[in-house]
Amino acid sequence: AGGTDSGSGDSDAGDEYGLVSAGTLTACSDVPYPPFEVEDSSTESGYSGFDIDLLDAIAKKLDLKLAVQDVGFDALQSGTTLVAGTCDLGASAMTITDERKANIDFSDPYYDSLQSLLVRTDSGIESIDDLAGKNVGVQQGTTGETYATENATGAELVQYPSDGELWPAMQAGQIDAILQDQPVNIEHEKADSAYKIVETYDTEESYGFAFAKGEKDALVDAVNSALQELRDSGEYQKIYDSYFSA
Ligand code: ARG
Repeated sequence: AGGTDSGSGDSDAGDEYGLVSAGTLTACSDVPYPPFEVEDSSTESGYSGFDIDLLDAIAKKLDLKLAVQDVGFDALQSGTTLVAGTCDLGASAMTITDERKANIDFSDPYYDSLQSLLVRTDSGIESIDDLAGKNVGVQQGTTGETYATENATGAELVQYPSDGELWPAMQAGQIDAILQDQPVNIEHEKADSAYKIVETYDTEESYGFAFAKGEKDALVDAVNSALQELRDSGEYQKIYDSYFSA
């Protein structure tokens, strides 16, 4: 398997990790998912966001260059994409769950999140109980889909492959609500005042970087050590504040 970057740097950096492209840490991510992963032509990888910036700092600690591949989330969260060897790890705001751990090794947690319900400000919908008979949009394969399936009783779930289709469908009036990770709905709320979050659900989720199960032990350890160093040095906090400070 080869990465996208033929011109990658220092060829023996990272040899011990079995990288798909020598000298490069290749991450798979489902984009857009603001503020975690968005396209950004001003950066070397062509992407930015909390996940990407954090992983870029981790890659630097490992003396590697960062490359990002935009892939579908559903196959990424099931482990299929990771096992196929398209990338060294997944960096996609992915919640660490017991179900996913059957196919995926996770890094230490790097971000805590919740679920939330976004509606049109003038919709009259005030809680999940008001969704009966309405269309609720979710991203396929996500913890938001699971939460909606279990809790939005009587609602019709409409699945989208990515937030890149989900959010435009909401703005086009094709769905009545979006149930998904709170930080992403906050971005939508900030971007368009016709929408607001009416409820949050404390699902106690933590995101982790994702690796093909049992295949990347040395890399998982290295990523965890780099993450800890970034926490200790305050660099993690700086990146965090650049996306999440009030
Ligand atoms: N945190 C949620 C989950 O793990 C949603 C993640 C979606 N991420 C993305 N980049 N599209 O299921």
